[in-house]
Amino acid sequence: MNETPIRLRGVEAQVDGVQTRDGAGVRLTRVLGASLQRRLDPFLMLDAFASDDPDDYIAGFPDHPHRGFETITYMVEGRMLHRDSAGHEGLLEAGGMQWMTAGRGVVHSEIPQQESGRMEGFQLWLNLPADAKMCAPWYRDFSAAELPRLRTAHGVDAVVLAGRCGDVAGAITRDATAPLIVDLHLDAGGRFEQPLPGAHNALLYVYRGEVEIGGQRVAQRTMAVFDNDGDALRIDAPQGARALLVAGRPLREPIAQYGPFVMNTEQQIYQAVNDFRAGRLGG
Ligand code: CO
Repeated sequence: MNETPIRLRGVEAQVDGVQTRDGAGVRLTRVLGASLQRRLDPFLMLDAFASDDPDDYIAGFPDHPHRGFETITYMVEGRMLHRDSAGHEGLLEAGGMQWMTAGRGVVHSEIPQQESGRMEGFQLWLNLPADAKMCAPWYRDFSAAELPRLRTAHGVDAVVLAGRCGDVAGAITRDATAPLIVDLHLDAGGRFEQPLPGAHNALLYVYRGEVEIGGQRVAQRTMAVFDNDGDALRIDAPQGARALLVAGRPLREPIAQYGPFVMNTEQQIYQAVNDFRAGRLGG
């Protein structure tokens, strides 16, 4: 029994994101971009992609480098093949997640394995603390069946990609940033509640239906940024919805970014570019 009254965090801002293309021309919505990196520290980027038109995704993301952070790719529908410079290869299918720690560097490709049908999913970038940016690269694929999930008493199925949700430990935990990443499937009338320290930044991206947070309606394909005034989140879905909840403890360290390299200083960025040109990334 917890008798302490919870203080619910409200919505500080709603964000539509920016339509763009990346990789070899993949159409996507950059929901979290550079202008929100400080506000949503430790998260650096959130891209949402969803299309029934192969021209929007077929070219994929040919070989490209990363250094200094982690990428989390979560597929809602479709199939994507991943290959990297360390010789790893994995097929990411509907409901699956790939967690990749770029650390000191990888070169990889992400290519759709379908010529028709729907491709839908997310890629989230999670920063690494300064002392871990040059760690050894690591990655793991999780199929849908391998991802922990729970069913709440209030009409919510939750897939716990990272962190802890109710009694369920997610697929991944990280000490420095304590990421909580949960795919929420809310029934009509469903309500999701989650304790969360006020200092942890949090966002919700609604990708099906719409939700209500503290009386504010958050429409489909919109990201709600939670304020930091409170210690719990509550999300209602009168008509049902699906949404990705992302939260974490901010690092409060300098961010220096040049494309796929995210370090703390310009000097480290020059080093990353030089290392990539010299073939030292992913070697
Ligand atoms: Co990549």
